[in-house]
Amino acid sequence: MVSFLAPQVSVVGSIHMDFFILMDHLPVPGETVLGKSFTMQPGGKGANQAVAAARLGAKTYMVGRVGGDIFAEEVLNNFRRNGVDVSYVRRDPETHTGVAFIFVDSRGENMIAVAPGADARVSTHDVDSAIDVISSSDVLMLQLEIPIETVVYAAKVAWEHNVKVVLNPAPARTLPEEIYGYIHVLTPNRIEAQMLSGVRIESREDIVKAAHVLMDKGVENVVITLGAEGALLVSEEGVYHIPAFKVRPVDTTGAGDAFNAALAVAIAEGRSLREAVRLANAAAAIKITRVGAQAGLPYRRDLEEFLKDVR
Ligand code: RIB
Repeated sequence: MVSFLAPQVSVVGSIHMDFFILMDHLPVPGETVLGKSFTMQPGGKGANQAVAAARLGAKTYMVGRVGGDIFAEEVLNNFRRNGVDVSYVRRDPETHTGVAFIFVDSRGENMIAVAPGADARVSTHDVDSAIDVISSSDVLMLQLEIPIETVVYAAKVAWEHNVKVVLNPAPARTLPEEIYGYIHVLTPNRIEAQMLSGVRIESREDIVKAAHVLMDKGVENVVITLGAEGALLVSEEGVYHIPAFKVRPVDTTGAGDAFNAALAVAIAEGRSLREAVRLANAAAAIKITRVGAQAGLPYRRDLEEFLKDVR
């Protein structure tokens, strides 16, 4: 049985409305594909991670922006329904709420285009206004769908207050060197690890080498996500491969968000990183069996049931 200590997690990040079309195959440039179904659901990596953390039992604060459009109220209500505190989500009437257009094929693979809108205006002032909740959190979660300057600033503020920073470097972007020293756990996938480290990744040894480059830059721990192969944890204690749970994928959208949120909540609860990565693998496995980024994010009871079953 997984115990529950009500940790506190803050997320500074993106908030979207996602437009999903399920289809047999993803289009190539110039091709029009007829979809099988359409749904509109709240999303965004930041928002998904906040909702997932709240569903997993953390007291969760979201810091970000929504626009002055019809989606703003919808995504705010969605946060409230999921128990996420939105006191630090600012309404920005000068732009639109971030939107993502997501195509998912019959194998569960996706293709995503984002128009950031209000995400692009999340500022260091927004971080300052939330400093009380960020500094009292156990973990701060960050991703890269808001301005990098804000990400670096939020990480610095958290680090200065001894709050552990979990940075999910997605979507892949280069990072200023300064940020690495603020990060407790960096969670790149293979492509992001290659881009951030400069190490060409073709083997398991290359992944470990890339992780060590990132640790030399100042990151305390690196967890490289490997999709169906699970994740590789590289820390001062050593290198550990934590295998994925085998499930039939329906939609991989948001799997990284489920993974990062479960990892952050487990760290906030004081679990070991190996245990945290195992829980993160379980949360991601549950997510990919369900359609929708947020709709598929597991609750605590789902995680506990799943782990009971696989045992
Ligand atoms: O990680 C999945 C998310 O990426 C989607 O919800 C979409 O909004 C994009 O930001």
